Amino acid sequence: MCGIVGYVGTQQAAPILLDGLRRLEYRGYDSAGIAVCGDGRLNVRKTKGRLQALAEATHEGADLPGSLGIGHTRWATHGEPNDINAHPHVSRSGKIAVVHNGIIENYVMLREALQAKGYEFISQTDTEVVAQLLDYFYGSCGDIFEAVTQMIHTVEGAYALGIICSDFPDRLIAVRKEAPLLLGYGSDGNYIASDVTALIRHTRDVAYMEDGELAVLDGHGIRVYDRTLCPVHKERHHVDWDIDAAEKGGYPHFMLKEIFEQPRAIREATAARIRDGRVELEDLHMTPEEIRNIGKIYIVACGSSYHVGMVGKYNLERMLRRNVEVCLASEFRYSDPIVGPGDLVIVISQSGETLDTMAALREAKKRGARILSIVNVVGSSIARESDDVLYTWAGPEIAVATTKAYSTQMAVLNLLGLYFGDIMGTVSSELYHEVVQGMLALPDQMEEILAQPGTIHEAAKLFAGQESIFFIGRNLDYALSLEGSLKLKEISYIHSEAYAAGELKHGTISLVEEGTPVVAVGLYEPLFDKAMSNVVEVQARGAHVLALTTEQHREEMERRVPVVLTVPQTQQMLLPQLGVIPLQLLAYYIALERGCDIDKPRNLAKSVTVE
Ligand code: G6P
Repeated sequence: MCGIVGYVGTQQAAPILLDGLRRLEYRGYDSAGIAVCGDGRLNVRKTKGRLQALAEATHEGADLPGSLGIGHTRWATHGEPNDINAHPHVSRSGKIAVVHNGIIENYVMLREALQAKGYEFISQTDTEVVAQLLDYFYGSCGDIFEAVTQMIHTVEGAYALGIICSDFPDRLIAVRKEAPLLLGYGSDGNYIASDVTALIRHTRDVAYMEDGELAVLDGHGIRVYDRTLCPVHKERHHVDWDIDAAEKGGYPHFMLKEIFEQPRAIREATAARIRDGRVELEDLHMTPEEIRNIGKIYIVACGSSYHVGMVGKYNLERMLRRNVEVCLASEFRYSDPIVGPGDLVIVISQSGETLDTMAALREAKKRGARILSIVNVVGSSIARESDDVLYTWAGPEIAVATTKAYSTQMAVLNLLGLYFGDIMGTVSSELYHEVVQGMLALPDQMEEILAQPGTIHEAAKLFAGQESIFFIGRNLDYALSLEGSLKLKEISYIHSEAYAAGELKHGTISLVEEGTPVVAVGLYEPLFDKAMSNVVEVQARGAHVLALTTEQHREEMERRVPVVLTVPQTQQMLLPQLGVIPLQLLAYYIALERGCDIDKPRNLAKSVTVE
């Protein structure tokens, strides 16, 4: 949610921090700040609003000389977004600065205790107690490392922290507990960051901090300690993400770039896992016997990842002939779930850091279930705590509204269905072959859809002025409608709801009147006639319908509906893979027409690491 970056070395820190923060901005962006240690003292600058304001206020960092610094982009949780609540927070002595991602749960109690000792608090944040607590401990021991260790034994909650002290101008300290933080090993200095995209311009050698670890960085190296302060040897990972992959690459928005990256992303997620017409999941460690003995199957996720789970439910039930329950992670974790040894919980997450999803994972694990996660970010918390991980290999996704991660999650789930179904003996060889061939053809079919964005842009213009839009569909089309509707509302701010079309008559139809816009999804062949009936039903009440169907049904649909978008035919279970693209583009162009901030929609964050 919030973004952290830190640097110590031989270069000027401030420009490095600003550059890193720019790449982290998508994680949280209502305010930003940096603290740099130079000439034996701390210089801190914080601004409300976009990072550009901070860059201008510091003349691109030139106003803060020094080669040790920390930076932060904030998405408010405690206290409104303003200059005071922005990080870094500075101790009473002015010597210690702190950036924080997470929540200090006992901050009220700590603040009162510190106030009783004469400390004054200027912000409304939980983070400021960390700065003052460090001040307090440092005042009595005179050693910043010792003060940090005392602080972590006192605070409760989740945190990734970057800490600097002007008495130690060559030292950066980092601590992690239940919030992502990684270390970067550079040639002219070392780094911390909450996300690898902040670092890849400077280094590709990184190590992921584990819960409870504490790291001390200087210009020459990084020492890492565990909870008991024993030195830890960190395994380094080489990140081979293309720098371009983290940039816009000529597109006006990351979202559009990521929509257009889907054919490649799908190819990468699937092609290497299909050999000679067979699905091979080398990264899965379950034995055939374990697969055959799986008890209940749950899919647990949030947001769009949950919508992938909705599609997955239909497809896995078809391929495995057994019940699959899809749960919102935020509900699952508190539902006293009936899950235990032998059961499989499939956790889906792009970031691998979503707190509710992580908590659901831990709950299921505690009860003895096996955890298989489908994750994009390698080495993320969810990936590390799972028994098995299938990575989606979609590359970095920057736009807050997910597109390529959604598609690749779905592809991986379909591969898993085939793989399990084959071992369980529930997928016929015809169906297996048909789906595999369909999956291999998807990237080219996606390219076909993406070659005609103009039609979708024209359709978007017709809907851009609306205040409320309904999506309807049945079965897989319903699952897809949920995502189409979410995409639209998150980036265009148009109110939108998706309904299972068969439910219309039970209430929703009362909302349809002259001119009500309705997006009717009619891709799923077995229920196409039913979809048509629902189109007729809403048109009879005056709805303005935009329909999404397959090429095969274009003519029939065009006889009834003025605006029809189509996708090529594919195996039924794969239709959402193609159908999501026009819906993503529709949302994108509607938001564009309305002048919205597409990559950074208001109130939303890419990675939600608070409850
Ligand atoms: C946030 C994002 C959504 C995403 C959801 C789950 O709300 O804005 O796009 O679907 O989190 O994130 P995850 O990283 O767990 O897939």
